[in-house]
Amino acid sequence: MQKLIVQGGTRLRGEINLQGAKNSALPIMAASYLCGSKCVLHNCPKLTDIYAASRILNYLGCKCSFAENTVQIMPTESDCSSISEELMQEMRSSIIFLGALLGRHKKCTVSYPGGCKLGPRPIDMHLSAFRKMGVDINENFGKVICNVKKSVHGARISLTFPSVGATENIMLCAVLADGETIINNAAREPEIQDLAQFLRCCGAKIKGDGESRIVIEGVKALSGCEYTIMSDRIACATYLSAIAGAGGEAIIHKACANCIEPFVSLLDQTGCSIYTLDEGIYVRSGMRMKAIESCIRTMPHPGFPTDAQAVLMAALTKSDGTSVFEENIFDCRYRHTDALIKMGADIKVLGKTAVVQGVDRLYGAKVEATDLRGGAAMVIAGLMAEGTTEVTKICYIDRGYENIEVYLQKLGADIRRE
Ligand code: EPZ
Repeated sequence: MQKLIVQGGTRLRGEINLQGAKNSALPIMAASYLCGSKCVLHNCPKLTDIYAASRILNYLGCKCSFAENTVQIMPTESDCSSISEELMQEMRSSIIFLGALLGRHKKCTVSYPGGCKLGPRPIDMHLSAFRKMGVDINENFGKVICNVKKSVHGARISLTFPSVGATENIMLCAVLADGETIINNAAREPEIQDLAQFLRCCGAKIKGDGESRIVIEGVKALSGCEYTIMSDRIACATYLSAIAGAGGEAIIHKACANCIEPFVSLLDQTGCSIYTLDEGIYVRSGMRMKAIESCIRTMPHPGFPTDAQAVLMAALTKSDGTSVFEENIFDCRYRHTDALIKMGADIKVLGKTAVVQGVDRLYGAKVEATDLRGGAAMVIAGLMAEGTTEVTKICYIDRGYENIEVYLQKLGADIRRE
């Protein structure tokens, strides 16, 4: 079992190139299954979730080959339309293959997805949308069995919540369906736009991505393409939080400040200096952050991203004043607070609210990652603490961060993997 050993107290300084976006690469890899020819994806991060997605593609008959941050996906004539429970359980994103299988085979059998334990993660919006598109769905014994009597046809779908996964799944099913699909109250995350752009490169007809109403005109077939995946805005927020919390200055290349505007403007309120460069972000943090006066509410894009909640909280544990978080997306996304409190933070969780009273010092401790972003928050707290912090269960962190210790070492952090 690997672990990260962090020696706190070092101010960070240096430059890093941001990794590709996990939450864009995963749906795009699923979308490649819809194509009749090879897809070449650049800027694909080297993550365990990415390799899990490639195992699903291999299981479905595709051939995947990785070369550094490029993955080639060669579809074949396979008619496999089911995914094993073991593969489905490896991550939440496996559910995105449901839309791809329906788009290509008009039938499929999958089980419920796995993923970080952030509270219940139902797929009711995914399934009710597919039913509107002509798919018969039976759920029993943990299996989702989908069949299509006549054809998968377009539909007008209104999401009760702008679910990222549901929006992506509907897109994958709709691009090869008969007729037009309209998604109202669609998710507006930048990763949705990246997926739509990839699909358009493959010949899909999609409009309105990035807004709340997406219109998709089904086409007969899609061909493979060569595409460069967007940078990971949440990894960017993570490294910005590390620099803000530990102090120092750095440049994060290939970062898109506009994609995390709400995060950047909050970080600005803590007293950090942040400048947008041509192809990156410059950040400088003094000796101590100011607390954020306004409540930090996680919201669907373009609001403050839930994935940046834990890492910003870690940075604010040593600040002047009190910051208040409100987690509105997931029911159970404060699992990292116990570890931060063990390290000396003063955090009180009351339902979906977390009150963070800034303290003067954090102390190194042995902590266990609870989920992807919570684990990253513990690493950030370790950089800010006196003494040594040991983070175990870093398999969670490796799901979303490409060699996190290498990136932080480039910024001068005293961190190693054992
Ligand atoms: C995606 O998860 C991301 N994962 C998450 O990132 C991110 O936190 C989330 O979107 C919100 O931005 C990937 O893209 C792989 P949702 P997803 O569907 O699609 C409820 C990370 O750290 N819901 O927008 O699962 C759901 O329970 C991960 O990188 C239903 O009730 O998120 C949740 O409370 C964590 N029914 C809320 O909606 C449904 O059918 C948002 O879920 C679907 C969702």
